[in-house]
Amino acid sequence: MGSHPLANLPCLLFLLLLPSSSHPTHDCPQQCGGIDIPFPFGIRPNCSIPGFQVSCNHHSQTPLPYLADTQLRILSISNGELRVDSAPFIATDCNDGRRALATISLPLDGPFTISGTSNRFVAIGCDTVAVVADGGTFTSGCVSLCSTQESVLSPGGACSGVGCCEAAVPRGRRYLSMGAGNMFGYVNVSAFDNCSYSFVVERGGYEFREEDLREFPGRASIAMRLEWAVGDDGGVGCGENAYRLSAVRGSGYLCNCSEGYAGNPYLNGSGGCQVWKVIGLMTVTSVPTLIFSTNLA
Ligand SMILES: *[C@@H]1O[C@H](CO)[C@@H](O)[C@H](O)[C@H]1NC(C)=O
Ligand SMILES: *[C@@H]1O[C@H](CO)[C@@H](O)[C@H](O)[C@H]1NC(C)=O
Ligand SMILES: *[C@@H]1O[C@H](CO)[C@@H](O)[C@H](O)[C@H]1NC(C)=O
Ligand SMILES: *[C@@H]1O[C@H](CO)[C@@H](O)[C@H](O)[C@H]1NC(C)=O
Ligand SMILES: *[C@@H]1O[C@H](CO)[C@@H](O)[C@H](O)[C@H]1NC(C)=O
Repeated sequence: MGSHPLANLPCLLFLLLLPSSSHPTHDCPQQCGGIDIPFPFGIRPNCSIPGFQVSCNHHSQTPLPYLADTQLRILSISNGELRVDSAPFIATDCNDGRRALATISLPLDGPFTISGTSNRFVAIGCDTVAVVADGGTFTSGCVSLCSTQESVLSPGGACSGVGCCEAAVPRGRRYLSMGAGNMFGYVNVSAFDNCSYSFVVERGGYEFREEDLREFPGRASIAMRLEWAVGDDGGVGCGENAYRLSAVRGSGYLCNCSEGYAGNPYLNGSGGCQVWKVIGLMTVTSVPTLIFSTNLA
């Protein structure tokens, strides 16, 4: 056509300025209500890998992120773990007849399991027997009794069988049901306790207080942890300058930036693992956003 080679220069420059290749975070919101949603999680269609979609619910004053198609509200995401609100999943048994089981149910073919190592099953009450089961072979639980209100006022929030007891959570489950009940109809404790509660909570995430024996669910602030991994068939590789780690729970894998690099190990390009740069006495990466926090606490 004989056009001058430089006629296309603006177009070429524009192409050079585009992010390299198809970048999943291009045009993808990276936060919901102030909470980071790093890839492989994502809010819009095509912003996540399958199973990692997040719904950003705008019905409340602050937008709230949920795992798509679940009641699980996300509190924070780190590499391999996810903290979700545990308060909607409190089993109840009260002297006035109020009774509720609680079930936690994750998508059966999804990448999430309830962490057995990062959570505990906790029950509170003074005439209390509580049970946690996986709907299959696993059943566990604990018993809490107290003779007097004074005996409950243990210093330091210890959960030791007087007013509060705990048990282990099985590893790698996608379903747990929890129940609470009483043994003696609260006959000798009803002056200070008419209810029993049980729930799953992250280790160190609940400190027992005597007033929690009454109307705990209304003001409970508790979180539990889920584990996640990228499936072998998920169609995602690790990004550049990153390597595979086998996931703790035995299926799938996680990615981690190689030594000397930081960023999101599931991405290529500018959001992915970038070399640390030394500027004066400080080391920074060129893209400090979306680095997975290594510690959720
Ligand atoms: C998602 O990606 C597929 C395949 O690349 C495409 O056909 C579809 O239109 C995309 N959807 C959206 C909402 O961008
Ligand atoms: C309740 O207290 C009475 C009187 O102290 C006692 O006889 C009874 O065994 C107690 N019942 C239970 C279930 O602890
Ligand atoms: C428990 O219920 C009994 C009977 O309804 C009532 O008298 C008592 O005050 C209640 N105790 C508490 C701590 O609310
Ligand atoms: C990153 O790039 C490599 C090769 O360029 C490719 O094999 C890999 O699938 C890409 N990973 C992601 C997460 O896009
Ligand atoms: C991931 O990489 C970082 C930096 O190289 C390293 O400190 C960390 O221990 C690695 N994590 C795991 C689980 O190996």
